[in-house]
Amino acid sequence: MSKTESKKTAAPVAAKVTKHERRDPSQPLSGNQHLLRWVEKMAHLTKPAAIHWVDGSKEEYDELCQKMVDAGTFTRLNHKAWPGCFYARSDSSDVARVEDRTFICSLSKDSAGPTNNWEDPYVMRKKLKSLFNGAMQGRTMYVLPYSMGPIGSPMSQIGVQLTDSPYVVVSTRTMARIGLPVFKLIDQDFKRVVPCMHSVGMPLVHGQADVTWPCNKEKYIVHFPETREIWSYGSGYGGNALLGKKCFALRIASNMARDEGWMAEHMLILGVESPDGEKTYVAAAFPSACGKTNLAMLVPPKSFKGWKVWTVGDDIAWIRPDKNGHLRAINPEAGFFGVAPGTSMKTNPNAMAALRKNTIFTNVALTPEGGVWWEGMTDVPPAECTDWQGNKWTPAIAQETGAKAAHPNARFTAPANQCPTIDPNWEDPHGVPLSAIIFGGRRATTIPLVYQAFNWSSGVYMGATMGSEMTAAAAGTIGKVRRDPMAMLPFCGYHMGDYFRHWIKMQRSLKETPRIFHVNWFRKDKEGKFLWPGFSENMRILKWIVDRARVRAHASETPIGWMPRYEDIEWKGLPFSAEKFEELQSFDTKGWRSEVIGHEELFLDLHDHLPPEMIYERELLICRLQPAEK
Ligand code: OXD
Ligand code: MN
Repeated sequence: MSKTESKKTAAPVAAKVTKHERRDPSQPLSGNQHLLRWVEKMAHLTKPAAIHWVDGSKEEYDELCQKMVDAGTFTRLNHKAWPGCFYARSDSSDVARVEDRTFICSLSKDSAGPTNNWEDPYVMRKKLKSLFNGAMQGRTMYVLPYSMGPIGSPMSQIGVQLTDSPYVVVSTRTMARIGLPVFKLIDQDFKRVVPCMHSVGMPLVHGQADVTWPCNKEKYIVHFPETREIWSYGSGYGGNALLGKKCFALRIASNMARDEGWMAEHMLILGVESPDGEKTYVAAAFPSACGKTNLAMLVPPKSFKGWKVWTVGDDIAWIRPDKNGHLRAINPEAGFFGVAPGTSMKTNPNAMAALRKNTIFTNVALTPEGGVWWEGMTDVPPAECTDWQGNKWTPAIAQETGAKAAHPNARFTAPANQCPTIDPNWEDPHGVPLSAIIFGGRRATTIPLVYQAFNWSSGVYMGATMGSEMTAAAAGTIGKVRRDPMAMLPFCGYHMGDYFRHWIKMQRSLKETPRIFHVNWFRKDKEGKFLWPGFSENMRILKWIVDRARVRAHASETPIGWMPRYEDIEWKGLPFSAEKFEELQSFDTKGWRSEVIGHEELFLDLHDHLPPEMIYERELLICRLQPAEK
């Protein structure tokens, strides 16, 4: 549905529906002829038993949640301890994003590049047509309009997801702005809409009984970048099913951003406020489950009196140059879809506060008191609970069998505005100004705690060559280092070489570029113990980054970039020796030589699309790694 097409709209129907009126949900809430025709066409294909136009009201949310409680998909948690919270357990085969089933169906294979699964769009459309044929039988098809970004922001984008999953509808109400105001934008402002088709792929035929988590073994997460379309089949979980998130806000949006001169990035956004009220915004890209949510909600150590860290977003940033040539960023989401295990009052008290009410928990453990628990939430585990697969779990069972109470990729879906550190400007329609960009990964060796790129192109090289040990956020081998450029490997919707070129080109539209840094909270000593305490103490590194971005902190030049000396970091309140800091920052020439070979492997795959800057930066780095002449 294009902007121009939508001009032929009838009078907006949405405006007539008031929030509290009970209504017939099958009545369309938009008068946009293209939307109506598309819904009709998709209903004809998928054959749902009913159609429900989502108005986004609290009443509708409550009704859908109750419906899922009745169906056994949701368990209502103890109201006193967990007001407004629900618990869901997924099918044990539907627990994470499925990267090997994720497709970029651009017209040419070359546009998708070697890091994406490509399929001929013609072949894929044929396949999808057969998969979706009758896929929603016996179910309701929800027409779910959503805005990624604040309603009415010039940086926001609109999608309409047709889905047969009420879990997706209620989760999207937390993760995005949905319902009537979005239909209004479609009808009145002629906003371009990204059509998103989603089915769990389990039609209910001939009175077949439903299951609590319908899904299909066969999964397809499909993107058509040229026509800006998303089709997702077979999964009801997270990034596979909440299509506004990874599919739209990263894979499709990265294509839009390249064409329109902005950036769609897998980044958190935070604001650092000094005791005298100076605020500096920073965006940071880390691969999945590397602590983005924790950093976005960091609590400064007690010794940082008067310092505050404000949260704008924890996962995705849309970044655009303003008319003065400065980059500004919005968080396109409205909620946090955070990894639960490891989240605690110690590691992230702000996330714990955010998820105390109105939150949907998936694949954590259920306690006998009607609460939730996960590994790392408390030092002492509950004496007994029901694990994420519905089995009895006790600490003794765990010790004997290794069973986890919560799946490692168990999630909480919590409204962002419940976070105590949510930035007062988090919904500013023009975004917040960015002064620094941080890249980071989970690396046990070689990569120092922090260093700064020499300039924009060496910063782009730094991001492009990022590597990280794999986590449970996606199916794959946990612990293996994989190159994950800008943390976008699973999310860049086009050729990665062209994406680097786009980054390089962005500088040309800027008067001032943010400074670029790399951090690694995960370096280990010879005994395999983490060298850096992380969490709150990361504030010390953030402060140096902010001071460097504001050109008032010292750094020393090294072959890989600028590094702080021990005395350049604020150590008040943390006994941390200069020797240990040296170990954390140590420059391991041998390790870096093999690191550069790893860069080469990635670049070989991308070579014919690589911008020359990447080649030159690599050559310069190799030269700088030469041993000193005797
Ligand atoms: C996420 C991810 O869910 O990156 O945010 O996998
Ligand atoms: Mn993510």
